[in-house]
Amino acid sequence: MEIKHSTEESVINSSFKKLQDLYFEIFKASDQRKNGTFRKKNLINVLSPGRVNIIGEHTDYNLGLSINAAINKYVLITGYENKTDYVEVFSRHLNDSNKFLLDDITFDKNTHWINYIRGVLKEYIQHGYRIGGFNIVVDGNLPIGAGISSSASLEVGVAKFIEQLFNLKVDRKKVVKYCNSAENNFVGVNCGFMDQFAVTYGKKNHVIYLNFKDLSYEYVYFNLGDNLILIVDSKEERNLAKTEYNKRREECNDAVQLIPKIAKNKNIKSLSDISLDLLHKLKDNMPEKLFKRVKHVVTENNRVILSKEYLLKGDIEKLGQVLLESHNSLRYDYEVSTEKLDYLVDEISKIKGVYGGRLMGAGFGGSIISIVKKSEIDIITDIIGSKFYKKFNIVPDFIKCLFSDGTRRVELKDP
Ligand code: GLA
Repeated sequence: MEIKHSTEESVINSSFKKLQDLYFEIFKASDQRKNGTFRKKNLINVLSPGRVNIIGEHTDYNLGLSINAAINKYVLITGYENKTDYVEVFSRHLNDSNKFLLDDITFDKNTHWINYIRGVLKEYIQHGYRIGGFNIVVDGNLPIGAGISSSASLEVGVAKFIEQLFNLKVDRKKVVKYCNSAENNFVGVNCGFMDQFAVTYGKKNHVIYLNFKDLSYEYVYFNLGDNLILIVDSKEERNLAKTEYNKRREECNDAVQLIPKIAKNKNIKSLSDISLDLLHKLKDNMPEKLFKRVKHVVTENNRVILSKEYLLKGDIEKLGQVLLESHNSLRYDYEVSTEKLDYLVDEISKIKGVYGGRLMGAGFGGSIISIVKKSEIDIITDIIGSKFYKKFNIVPDFIKCLFSDGTRRVELKDP
């Protein structure tokens, strides 16, 4: 079913109203402290999207290219200052709460999700922003662990919330950098800039053509028209994701050290400075594994450029072909796919009304992304759902989405 924008707006409006009711339920004490003068209209509401990566996988930390977008699946935050020096958070989604002092923010070993919030606040404080205590309730319809960046969405959402509450003036690129640094240095996940960038910069009906070398970007109109983006979550736990992700990063690092030497060219600073021609010339002088890793990065950058051309021409069929080529490269050269992800891509791409597909995100489990015809969506999910269940005894999740604006404050109608 098509999600009409006006319908979506009213769903968001009523979801925030429910969240506001919950805020008053959870934080009754705070309300009393304000002698009952505090009203719902005072609350600050922030809507923060998830993201998809159309193409350009494992290119961000290699200073390459990607085409990504924010999607209409969200984290919702509502709250206000509490005039104390602590922060209190309740997650409706996880039915869990947490409270901590602002002047002593430490990693919480017991409550994983809170560290995304703690990390962002610590980052802002370290950069000299003045932040006081506040209470928030968090909710959302963004699945956790499906590879559509619920963590980046929460990080950027909290950054937007404090920016609005305390009147901070923070450039969007800095928001991306602070949130990314929170994830790298506080949470301990060594991710690139893609997730936080897409969540912050998303634009309705558009994708972002992003160059990680200098974070320069361009919006490209992507008229999904009769189509939508379908994410299929294999529900495969990404056990290896962290170690293997770091291993790939190290291998890329090794290649960046080696290639300028064997190519006798000091100007090569990243794998994205290498052409496919040059790489083939160097093939015999480098370990096969490194050759394959670099080949993925170089060809993936080329595929991103090609995809942009197809998008500008509105040629979704050809774009779909490039997505399949990206998957094969991730499968055979970068070696981050799994039997389940391969199965999903192989099977979905056989179905009428499907324009390609590929694993999305780090790999080793998680989701695939595909572009599909709206009119065929029920047939497609039926076929894939039953085939996947038959083979792996797992019911996959299907997430249908459109492109959305980035993280933003929402003023409610009839507050
Ligand atoms: C994860 C990371 C991203 C990116 C992708 C691979 O999703 O968070 O920064 O490196 O893997 O493209």
